[in-house]
Amino acid sequence: MTTRTTAEWQAADAAHFLHPFTDFQALAKKGARIITHAENIYLRDSEGQRILDAMSGLWCVNVGYGQQALIDAATRQMQELPFYNAFFQTATPPAIELAELLAEVAPPGLRHVFFAGSGSEGNDTVVRMVRRYWDLQGQPERQVIIGRWNGYHGSTMAGASLGGMKYMHAQGGLPIPGITHIEQPYWWLHGRPAGLSRDDFGKVAAGWLEQKILEVGPEKVAAFIGEPIQGAGGVIVPPATYWPEIQRICDQYGILLVSDEVICGFGRTGNWFGCQTVGSRPDLITFAKGVTSGYVPLGGVLVGERVARALIEQGGEFEHGYTYSGHPVACAVALANIRLIREQHLVEHVRDELGPWLAEAFAQLAEHPLVGEVQTCGAMGALLLVKDKSSGEAFPAEQEVGMLCRGHCFGNGLIMRAVGDRMIIAPPLVMTRAQVDEMVALIRRCLDLTLADLNARGWVA
Ligand SMILES: Cc1ncc(COP(=O)(O)O)c(C=O)c1O
Repeated sequence: MTTRTTAEWQAADAAHFLHPFTDFQALAKKGARIITHAENIYLRDSEGQRILDAMSGLWCVNVGYGQQALIDAATRQMQELPFYNAFFQTATPPAIELAELLAEVAPPGLRHVFFAGSGSEGNDTVVRMVRRYWDLQGQPERQVIIGRWNGYHGSTMAGASLGGMKYMHAQGGLPIPGITHIEQPYWWLHGRPAGLSRDDFGKVAAGWLEQKILEVGPEKVAAFIGEPIQGAGGVIVPPATYWPEIQRICDQYGILLVSDEVICGFGRTGNWFGCQTVGSRPDLITFAKGVTSGYVPLGGVLVGERVARALIEQGGEFEHGYTYSGHPVACAVALANIRLIREQHLVEHVRDELGPWLAEAFAQLAEHPLVGEVQTCGAMGALLLVKDKSSGEAFPAEQEVGMLCRGHCFGNGLIMRAVGDRMIIAPPLVMTRAQVDEMVALIRRCLDLTLADLNARGWVA
């Protein structure tokens, strides 16, 4: 890599690089922020500014930046065997060892793994596997997979279809056939205005799954997919009553339950997997991101006994796979990452320390005049910005108040993401108490700056 000035990087970027989920023209006018280095929980940009990364990259750098064990694992594996595939009855030691280790840390009953290159690919595998399972059961008419509005399952054709982002469906003729959606379990938006308690709303929202199953016809429904806690939708923590009721409904109709743990897996919620936090027993788990802490791309699907037995014992050939399924370097890094999570007791750290510290700090932020709702779960959190704290009235969407706040965060050395007016965090799991305090002080300052900004525009009461 050459060394250039920020302006030079930005010009070359605008000339050639089409970024994901980006208005290319708007970015070219503004110029991308160029991130050049990172250590622990801090990034450095091409201007030398130090930035606290409260989003772990993109919900993935669970062990923080600069972990030598992961770097060494990649180097060693690249020297020994940089690539070999897992097609044609071959395997490499890192892929076998990782499959074995994943079976150890996975919830009971999920003892097999299919590797992919990303979360989106993992969810494509889910669609293929779920439909193949029902074919093998002699019920090929069971094709329909139910997802949720405002759920996120990736950006491939299948991933974006399973997800419920309507703006994604609008481009490219999605969803693909056989995928349908129910409303999300977002109490503030759907339960609070109806005067429901969180617990009552959780049961009502789970009941929407049963209604959809009956509408589609139970004999046609193959699976339900959901994130234990919606990430990209805005860190929406469902009521405690939701997932147990979803589980009951899946059991009652015999449909497969898929837990998309691309964000919630590998310690994020204070357990190895989010389903253990919310109380579900999935047949399939999609994973990616935290499995390598994002150091190299890797994703996949953990497969429970019911599906694994059918695929293995009745299956014949499963006509699906990727060049990089079980990539040896990615698997070697994942092994080092999972061992590090274990050695440093990061899951316990989130459960017993980081999670409670964040919950306490966010409860204090709830007193800020701009904040309506706060939610945290383990190392994830959301602050909803509202126009009127007492009534909970929202800002008009076109004012883009979340983006305004995000701008203040960027300007003050803090990466916090805005989903509408929900300001969200998912920091590296290695965060210390002092770093939580530092982050919360930055968040408070940015909330104050946003409020001053809104006052100056006359946008608050
Ligand atoms: C829950 C969930 N599933 C799937 C994906 C897609 O993963 P990827 O971007 O690695 O394809 C994401 C990405 O953010 C995600 O949050």
